[in-house]
Amino acid sequence: VGHIDDVQELRKHRPTVIPERFVRDITERPVTACFTRDVPVIDFSELMKGEKEISRLGDACEKWGFFQVVNHGIGLDLLERIEKVGMEFFMLPLDEKQKYAMAPGTVQGYGQAFVFSEEQKLDWCNMFALGLEPRFIRNPKLWPKRPDHFSETVEAYSAEIRKLCENLLKYIAMSLGLKGSVFEEMLESAVQAVRMNYYPPCPRPDLVLGLSPHSDGSAITVLQQGKGSSVGLQIFKDDKWVPVLPLPNALVINIGDTLEVLTNGRYKSVEHRAVTHRTKDRLSIVTFYAPSYEVELGPMPELVDEDNPCRYKRYNHGEYNKHYLANKLEGKKRLEFAK
Ligand code: SIN
Ligand code: FE2
Repeated sequence: VGHIDDVQELRKHRPTVIPERFVRDITERPVTACFTRDVPVIDFSELMKGEKEISRLGDACEKWGFFQVVNHGIGLDLLERIEKVGMEFFMLPLDEKQKYAMAPGTVQGYGQAFVFSEEQKLDWCNMFALGLEPRFIRNPKLWPKRPDHFSETVEAYSAEIRKLCENLLKYIAMSLGLKGSVFEEMLESAVQAVRMNYYPPCPRPDLVLGLSPHSDGSAITVLQQGKGSSVGLQIFKDDKWVPVLPLPNALVINIGDTLEVLTNGRYKSVEHRAVTHRTKDRLSIVTFYAPSYEVELGPMPELVDEDNPCRYKRYNHGEYNKHYLANKLEGKKRLEFAK
């Protein structure tokens, strides 16, 4: 991705132009989604009180694969700080950001991953991604020196989000009627990565996508939508694209492919995408929480029986991850690997 494909630069220099590489085929264009149904909201503080909220959580995972979580216990100042440094990073001059450019074939740094050919359409988005845990996946050269406090903020934020993921997976296990600890071993040295997405305004939101439709490869994903951002995230539900309206101070959680496989398809890894806005920009901060690479996984025996025959094979998560990274974002196609 050269200068010309950097959407922020494009807006600066040629504000009305949409290069061909961003113009989607007719079938992919985001015709206005006017189908509004609210994604379930889960009160995290109620989960520890027992049954009722845990069963609502189970419903959300089964019917939606997406929910928003409120009262999650993460300090609002931390949510504000991560947004601030994220936004400040994207506002840096291009040459500063390119010090952290994503090397071809890798997924960390500034740039678009999952681009494999000149013909492939590009997303109307700038991205910056960092691997966090386990430590060996970190590449210190890619941790920005500017803006001030970037690294320590990412560090503090990620530690809190990790705890939230651990807790949510405990309650998710309980919502399946299983012991709260069933995922613990598999996620003991869980892989955690963060990706910040910045979507500048786009003069023709009807022609482009902010982010191509995909499902996540994670166990679960935590997404923070920036305050004052436009509406952008949409999920594919009952054959329609449904927007996830930002709820102040809430975090959006979604089930990834790994949990779909583990639950033998009971909990759904739902396809989603991002659209752009004509006049407003948008920032999202996304944390992926996934098993470590050496883990072997498949449907949990407790969730396989006569009525629910095994729907996925057993595989090594590292192999799945390689497969995931080697293919473009394309709906739920990559989950075919597990069939
Ligand atoms: C993502 O799916 O990684 C991000 C979507 C969004 O920006 O809301
Ligand atoms: Fe995603």
